[in-house]
Amino acid sequence: MEILNASHVAIWNSAKHHLDVRDNDVHTLHSYQLVKLLLQWYPEAAEEVCLLAMMLHDTGWSKIPVDKILKAFGPNNQYPELTRAHELHGVEIASALLKQHGYSREFIAQATAIIDGHDTTADARSLEDSIVKDADKLWRYTPHGITTIGKWFDIGKAEVLEILDGHVLPKLLTAQGKWLAKSLLEIAYTEMNAGKLIKQ
Ligand SMILES: [Fe+2]
Ligand SMILES: [Fe+2]
Repeated sequence: MEILNASHVAIWNSAKHHLDVRDNDVHTLHSYQLVKLLLQWYPEAAEEVCLLAMMLHDTGWSKIPVDKILKAFGPNNQYPELTRAHELHGVEIASALLKQHGYSREFIAQATAIIDGHDTTADARSLEDSIVKDADKLWRYTPHGITTIGKWFDIGKAEVLEILDGHVLPKLLTAQGKWLAKSLLEIAYTEMNAGKLIKQ
């Protein structure tokens, strides 16, 4: 099973060097997959807009000083202005890449409207926005997300799962996104705790 749609490989190859900080490349590939899963439940959503907004949403981190990136998000965000800046840089980078790859002005406007505010707004601005926002957060529930978050904030797996359960889950916007989050959490909890219930 290919991760990327065949028609998206060329733009990914142009985008990926903007995503080689903060594990954004692997994060993006997971979230792109999670968009695909959510789209199965929301066939009325504009698929291409969701997938390409997701692919390009975090490209703007490449313009933020590396030493500040890991302090510019999360519960103890020291640089909220940089969180906003990565969105605006992302809009610029995504516009240029989409134009270069032949997407229409209207399409670019739709995709960049989602990138603009993807972290600094919490509400559902459209169905497509909800799907991208949820898939962005759902990455945190994957094995790669759980490990990466543990590393970023120097906390153990149990604490990461507690945060995902108590603080992130209520922020998810779609019913299927919440269901997917719960499913991934159940798997992670089971993996963590099964040892306590079996013969040692
Ligand atoms: Fe972001
Ligand atoms: Fe993201």
